Amino acid sequence: MSLKPRTAQQSTMMTTSEAEKLLKKYYPEGSMAFGYLYEHSMAVAAHAVKIAEMNPELGPDIEFIRSSAILHDIGIFMTHNPDIGCYGEYPYLAHGYLGREILEKEGFLKHALVCERHVGVGINKEEIIRNKLPLPPRDMIPLTVEEEIVCYADKFYSKTPGKLSTPKAADKILKNLEKYGPDKPVVFRGFIEKYGTL
Ligand SMILES: [Fe+2]
Repeated sequence: MSLKPRTAQQSTMMTTSEAEKLLKKYYPEGSMAFGYLYEHSMAVAAHAVKIAEMNPELGPDIEFIRSSAILHDIGIFMTHNPDIGCYGEYPYLAHGYLGREILEKEGFLKHALVCERHVGVGINKEEIIRNKLPLPPRDMIPLTVEEEIVCYADKFYSKTPGKLSTPKAADKILKNLEKYGPDKPVVFRGFIEKYGTL
């Protein structure tokens, strides 16, 4: 009996060094964007792994959480955000689905979904249409434990110079989320209740 080989697209397997290598494929190592992205991504990955380790009963795939957190913002170079060295043509909000497209091309479909679904606390199709957001009209909501944990951990970190590795207080995050609609803090509170805080 021959086993069907697992395709790259179905795989969640990726080591930390493979994830870092993939980042460096798209970001010159000494560039401003790489500096911001790398410090932010490593802070989010460390936070997400700690959250996952606090919740063994949910069976999180810790290595997948680590590698997908390292890659979750890979799309930012395609956006226009000169403050962090990104000179692309897309609005910053698009970095999630742009990251998805990059990782799909690289053959990592599950990592790609983490990229698309981590922005804010998730964005649904109806909001995209109603608010005319510059995004493809589809649900971009974290669904799995791994997708939720990366999205949740990411909210603790801004890309403010000098504060990249300093987690924000939950109260501050909740306050900020209010700007995007009354349902957003509710989702974040749900993450706090489900996964706990560090
Ligand atoms: Fe991020």
